[in-house]
Formats: sequence, structure tokens, C-alpha cells
Amino acid sequence: MHIPTHIAIIMDGNGRWAKQRGLQRSEGHRAGTEAARAVVTRCRELGVRHLTLYTFSKENWSRPKDEIKTLFDLLTTFLKREEAGLKEQGIRLNVLGEIDDMPLAVRQVLRHVMRQTATCSEMTLNLALNYSGREEIVRAARNLAAKGVPPEAITEETFAAELWTGGQPDPDLVIRTSGELRLSNYLLFQSAYAEFYFTDIYWPDFTPSELDKAIEDLNGRQRRFGKTGEQVDNA
Ligand code: IPE
Ligand code: IPE
Ligand code: MG
Repeated sequence: MHIPTHIAIIMDGNGRWAKQRGLQRSEGHRAGTEAARAVVTRCRELGVRHLTLYTFSKENWSRPKDEIKTLFDLLTTFLKREEAGLKEQGIRLNVLGEIDDMPLAVRQVLRHVMRQTATCSEMTLNLALNYSGREEIVRAARNLAAKGVPPEAITEETFAAELWTGGQPDPDLVIRTSGELRLSNYLLFQSAYAEFYFTDIYWPDFTPSELDKAIEDLNGRQRRFGKTGEQVDNA
């Protein structure tokens, strides 16, 4: 089985998972954290080199204050608990998004775990946090302008280098759970040629074997990048 280099996931459906069980949304988020943990480990086992998890969008700031607090508390607990495990597995933590705009406790633990895992080289775990794909593109443009880069030196490559994912390959596979068929401002520039996989399963129920299914599905597809199917077959 061919293992994609970069998998990006939109972990959606925690709230509905909880509602279905008569639980609070916070319980859904808690269960979602466990699902994330298992998927990270599975990706590492399979040899996925980059895993990006949509953890908190810019738009998510418009949720109720107590839900936002729950999400950041869970993230903080998760990182403290997983620090040693990440290191052991050789997983480098990276954040896509502005850390300075996050609550203090989260900032501290993120910076700490990023420092602790900085030399890990088996897999990069990107958490898209406080993330907006459009804003990321605008920020890249601003960075180039601020550096005084002349227009002719702005290429797809120099531009991509200014994104939060600078230096990492584009996602091969974007997975969204919970049956929603949209990108929600996720990796807009980077997903230009990604394959998409949508499943009705709510995120807390997305087990490692569901991940395997998504990868198997991808293996049955032909990525053409503009060529004809025959050209790709004969290559
Ligand atoms: C995904 O689950 C987690 C975040 C967006 C932070 P949701 O909380 O969006 O769950 P639903 O979509 O309400 O079911
Ligand atoms: C996308 O899920 C963001 C994350 C998974 C963190 P949302 O549940 O916020 O997406 P929309 O608003 O329904 O599109
Ligand atoms: Mg949702």
C-alpha cells in the first residue's frame, strides 16, 4: 500500500457525536482528543511524514466562551500528557497559526512542546490552530512585501515558503469527517491538487482503521495532475 506523505484532517462532528449520546458538547471534544491521539500514532506507524490536524479555526472564536475554554483546556492537557510520547515516537510538533493570540497557558505549553520536539524527525504533527487559510495567504503576501521582494522574484515556491507550512510538502490527502462537504478555510493554497476523502463518521468515532480505509481509498485512485489517464499509466 502506498502511504501518502502528507495527510491533513478536518476533525469535525464532536458536537453531534455528543448530542447523539445525550452528552454535553465538551464530552464530544474530549472523545475527539482521544481519536486524535490514536490517529497520530497510526500515522507514525504507517510512516506518514506530515500530519496536519485542523484543531481550531479563526472562525471558531465565534463559539460560546465556555466551549472555547473547554477546547483550549483539552489541548493544554493533551499536550502535557503527550509530550513524552511524541518525543519517543520522534514526532515534531508544529503550529500553523499565530501562537501569540492564544491563551497564556496554551502558548506556554505549545512553545515548550515545540522546543522539546524540535529535533524529532520521523514525522511532523502540524496543529492548525487559530488558523484561517485566506488569512495565511494574505500574511504570506505581506511577508514578501515587508521583505521588499521584487515582483519578479515572487513565484509559487517563494510564496509557499511564507505560508505556515513553509518547507513542507502539500497534502496528498485531505480527510473530513461528519458528512460535511466543505473546506472551511483549510489549507486553501496547499490543497490545490490534494485528493479528498469525506466520511459521515463523526470525529470521535474515526478510529485508526477508518484512517486505513481512507488510505486504501486513495490507493485506488489515479492522480493525474492535468495529464491524461493513459499518460499516467505509461509513465
Ligand atoms: C469539531 O467538532 C471540533 C471543532 C470545530 C473545534 P464540532 O464542534 O464542529 O462538532 P459539530 O460540527 O458541532 O458536530
Ligand atoms: C472546521 O470545523 C474547524 C475545525 C475542525 C477545527 P467547523 O465545525 O468549525 O466548520 P464549519 O463552521 O461547520 O464549516
Ligand atoms: Mg463542526
